[in-house]
Amino acid sequence: MKGYEMAEKVNLATLKKYKQQDRPITMLTCYDYATAILLEQAGIDGIIVGDSLAQVMLGYDSTLQATMDLMVTLTAAVRRGAPNVYLVGDMPFLSYQISSEQAIINAGRFLREASCDAVKFELDHRYVELVEELARAGIPVMAHLGYRPQTAGQKAKVVETRAVEQAEILVQDAQDMAAAGACCLLLECVTAVTAKVVTERVEVPVISCGSGPHCDGQVLVLHELLDLPGASGPRFCKKYAAIGEQIKQAVRTYLHEVRDRKFPDADHSYHMKPDTQQEFEKRLQT
Ligand code: KIV
Repeated sequence: MKGYEMAEKVNLATLKKYKQQDRPITMLTCYDYATAILLEQAGIDGIIVGDSLAQVMLGYDSTLQATMDLMVTLTAAVRRGAPNVYLVGDMPFLSYQISSEQAIINAGRFLREASCDAVKFELDHRYVELVEELARAGIPVMAHLGYRPQTAGQKAKVVETRAVEQAEILVQDAQDMAAAGACCLLLECVTAVTAKVVTERVEVPVISCGSGPHCDGQVLVLHELLDLPGASGPRFCKKYAAIGEQIKQAVRTYLHEVRDRKFPDADHSYHMKPDTQQEFEKRLQT
């Protein structure tokens, strides 16, 4: 089609190539069709439809309320808006902890119903076997290590890697996950030095979420980056815009214009042709 440039689909090979070239991989969360269009047009490499949607979209105070049906529905909407990004679905609480059979069936839904490129699981060393089973079943696994919001009540935030022993455990877990078949890793709130060691030691792409600058890529929660209400954001999240303020200002202007009868004006109304209107008004009089 003339003037239409087809964006190239980002896949795992692309992410691996970026790792080799030391070209940082860019990712954000996203939960809806319209925003997905904007992210792809802006040139993002990957989108994670995180279970953080339970907090920033639905107003819950944890991620535990996200369900499989909701996650799959919104992930499919994001895929419709962003057909070319590396799309990661996120396994919600209790969708994979009960049995590996259930984990495979649920993860498969993200591939079948939302055309995901990978599926993210919050994991530690107890899940190495599960990762092997998922990989055997053909599910590309993003292993989310470090701070894991689904078990957030049980730990402090940067608990994993401030002590030497904890840092060693995290490095070992990361290597074990990669060896078990995880196609990429996400490190949340891991100390920068530990994240650097992991990134150097594994061949798969490593994405940082608050884990410093040395990983192969970065991800942030979009609502926090845009400073939307209900998403105050952790210290590591930089605010790139104040979209909440812009929305409020646009709504205030609309309210004023409606109250002052400035909106809708002629340009935003439908009109009859003058002679049709004349005829209409004449008939109303008789
Ligand atoms: O749920 C979420 O948004 C996440 C981010 C770290 C990507 O897990």
